Amino acid sequence: MTSFADLLQKDRAGVDTLIARLPKAELHLHIEGSLEPEMMFAKAKKHGITLPYADVEALRAAYNFGNLQEFLDLYYAGADVLRDQDDFYDLTWAYLQRAKADGVVHTEIFFDPQTHTARGIDPEVFVEGIVQALHDGEAELGITWRLIPNFLRHLTEQDAIDTLAELEPYMDNFHGFGLDSSEVGHPPSKFARVFAEIRSRGLPVVAHAGEEGPPEYIVEALDILHVARIDHGIRSINDPALVSRLARAQMPLTVCPLSNVKLCAVSSMQAHPIKKLMDAGVLVTINSDDPAYFGGYVGENYRATAKALDLTAEDLKKLAANSIRASWLHEVQKARHLAVIDGL
Ligand code: HPA
Ligand code: ZN
Repeated sequence: MTSFADLLQKDRAGVDTLIARLPKAELHLHIEGSLEPEMMFAKAKKHGITLPYADVEALRAAYNFGNLQEFLDLYYAGADVLRDQDDFYDLTWAYLQRAKADGVVHTEIFFDPQTHTARGIDPEVFVEGIVQALHDGEAELGITWRLIPNFLRHLTEQDAIDTLAELEPYMDNFHGFGLDSSEVGHPPSKFARVFAEIRSRGLPVVAHAGEEGPPEYIVEALDILHVARIDHGIRSINDPALVSRLARAQMPLTVCPLSNVKLCAVSSMQAHPIKKLMDAGVLVTINSDDPAYFGGYVGENYRATAKALDLTAEDLKKLAANSIRASWLHEVQKARHLAVIDGL
C-alpha cells in the first residue's frame, strides 16, 4: 500500500502538511527567547520601563546578529521586562500556544535563573509562573513537559553553585540542568564540580557545546560533564572521529537550524550540516532555541530545513521520531508518539 509519506515524497507542497501532522518533541527552547517584541513592549508599559526602541518594528529591525554574543546582549536586556509571576506565566503560555499550533506534543524548556536572580527576582516568581503555565498547558493543550534550569557559563562556577542553593526549595519542579550563554572561552570543564553535584542527585544534565565553540568542547561535555544530550553540537562536523562517536553512542544533538543561520554559526541554511550528520547516523533533532529572535518556531525550523536541504518525508519522520526518542518522556509515552509517526 502507498503510504501518506510515499505520496508526499513527490509533492513538496505536501511536505508542510506532513510537518504539521508529525508529533514533535521540542528539546531546546529558552523560554526567555520566546519573548515576542509585542509582549516585550506590553510588559515594559505595565512596569513603567522605557525600552531603547521606538516601537515593535524598530526592535525587530535590531534583530540582526553577527554572532552569539550580539544576540545574548539583546536577549538579556529584553528579559528585564519580566518582573512578576504573571509575566512568566504569560510568556510560557504564549509559547505553549505556538507550540500546539506546530504539533508539539512534548516540550523540555530551558530557563536562565541567574538572569532573574541577578535582578533581585525571587526564584518563586519565575519558577511558579513558568510551572503554572506548564501545568495549564498539559491540562488544556495536552502538551507534556520537563523543565531544565541552565547555568550561565560566562559567570563563575561558584555563581552556579550559589544559584543551585537558591533553587533548592524548587528542585521538585526540575528534571535536569543545562549550560548556556557565551561559549568560547567558557568550556564545559569550568562547570565540572557543579554538574557532578547535580548528577549525584540522580538528575541528568545537558550542555550547549559546539555551537560556536570547537569540537573539543563537545568532547568535554561528554567526558567531563557526562551529558545526556548535546545542545547544538553542529561543530562536530569538523571532527569525523567525533561524528562516529556521537553516532555509535546515539548521543542526541538538539540542533536549531534557524538560530545557527541567524547567529552566523553556519553561512546559510543550504550549508547547514544537519543532513550530513543525520546521514552519518547521528541522532539529530530540530528545535527553535529562541524563536522570537530567530524568525520562527519549531514548525518553521522544520519547513526551512526541509526546503533548503530537500529533506524527504522519511527524513522528516526520522527527525520527529528522534525528538521523541531523545526526550525524557516515559517509554510508554514515547511508544505512543512513535506509533503515530510510523502511521503517517
Ligand atoms: N546559545 C547559548 N546560550 C543561549 C542561547 C544559545 O543559542 N540562547 C539563549 N541562551
Ligand atoms: Zn540554546
